[in-house]
Amino acid sequence: MARILVLGGTRFLGRALARLAVARGHEVVCAARGVSGAVPEGARLVSVDRDDPAALTPLARGGFDAVVDVTRQVDHARHALDALADHVGHWSLVSTVSVYADNTTPGQSAADAPVLPPPPSGVEAPDPDFRWYGECKVAIERLVRERVGADRSFICRAGLIVGPEDSSDRFPYWVRRLAAGGEVLAPGEPTDRVQFVDVEDLASWLLNAAGTRLSGTYDGTGPTMSRAEMLAGVAAGLGVADPRLTWVDQDFLHAHDVREWSGERALPLWVRLPESAGLMDRDVSAALAAGLVVRPLADTVRATASWMSAHPGDVRQGGLDPADEAAILGTWHAVRTA
Ligand SMILES: NC(=O)c1ccc[n+]([C@@H]2O[C@H](COP(=O)([O-])OP(=O)(O)OC[C@H]3O[C@@H](n4cnc5c(N)ncnc54)[C@H](OP(=O)(O)O)[C@@H]3O)[C@@H](O)[C@H]2O)c1
Repeated sequence: MARILVLGGTRFLGRALARLAVARGHEVVCAARGVSGAVPEGARLVSVDRDDPAALTPLARGGFDAVVDVTRQVDHARHALDALADHVGHWSLVSTVSVYADNTTPGQSAADAPVLPPPPSGVEAPDPDFRWYGECKVAIERLVRERVGADRSFICRAGLIVGPEDSSDRFPYWVRRLAAGGEVLAPGEPTDRVQFVDVEDLASWLLNAAGTRLSGTYDGTGPTMSRAEMLAGVAAGLGVADPRLTWVDQDFLHAHDVREWSGERALPLWVRLPESAGLMDRDVSAALAAGLVVRPLADTVRATASWMSAHPGDVRQGGLDPADEAAILGTWHAVRTA
């Protein structure tokens, strides 16, 4: 049994990791305010506000075998490292593929892909529109390597994280949409690449990495697949036979104000190509070789769908509205048959 400190643990990935660590018999402490949610049963919440630079200092007593930090805030990371770096065996930082400078080139790997510069001095956190998000994570990555040392730190650059407790309107949009049936607007080309990681697979890899003291910088995302494979996999996981997909050209979608990725009028996991061709087409062979195990998509879909039906109020209802989708499909068919 190890003593594991999760800096976070009250929502999505942090909570999945804490839950799994408890299930594996570890002693789990989560340090957070507790405003995002509760920690899993069996984990202990230490209520702290990391805006206070000294908030984590008392946790240094006793030490930890491993720390996992999910922060996006540079000052929060700095304070945590000041308080704890000398009192832990292994430090994992959940970073993001948003650190990369080039989103256009497919097939890049964490080992040598260029990253953004750190944010300008005085910027300690992303703004509400997520400006400076990647840059802040770059700064946090550097701090972790400097303070903990490259041989005791694991930088895990997560891709899109999906699965139960994902309250975003991204992967859940496709689960909801395929489950609803009828003619489904599929954006772009069937061969377009998509990439994501199941929250439990990522949590499991982070925990294993703490156990084996994996060090280095990796992308934490699953192997790339085509959008056709993804939509077929979502349908299969839901038990929907032969979904009726209509593939609509990206320029047509843009001309009709359908937006990319996330939010109102957006089609999730869809980005403009070739400009964003590198975003969901990263080479993750190093992560797979270093222990990331990826479950079948159908399992992720079933778990997501069952969580969504048990917690209908927890998922943001973004994406393309059904009436807008039907109108766009109608125009698309009219143009094609004209
Ligand atoms: N979701 C994705 O698709 C995606 C993709 C790529 C990378 N990532 C990265 O993956 C990680 C996801 O982490 P997550 O799912 O656990 O969610 P998260 O939203 O990053 O969780 C933030 C955690 O920090 C705590 N926190 C925030 N402000 C605090 C404060 N002032 N003092 C103490 N604690 C504070 C929150 O708890 P309280 O609010 O209860 O304090 C919460 O547990 C992040 O690092 C994110 O950048 C996510």
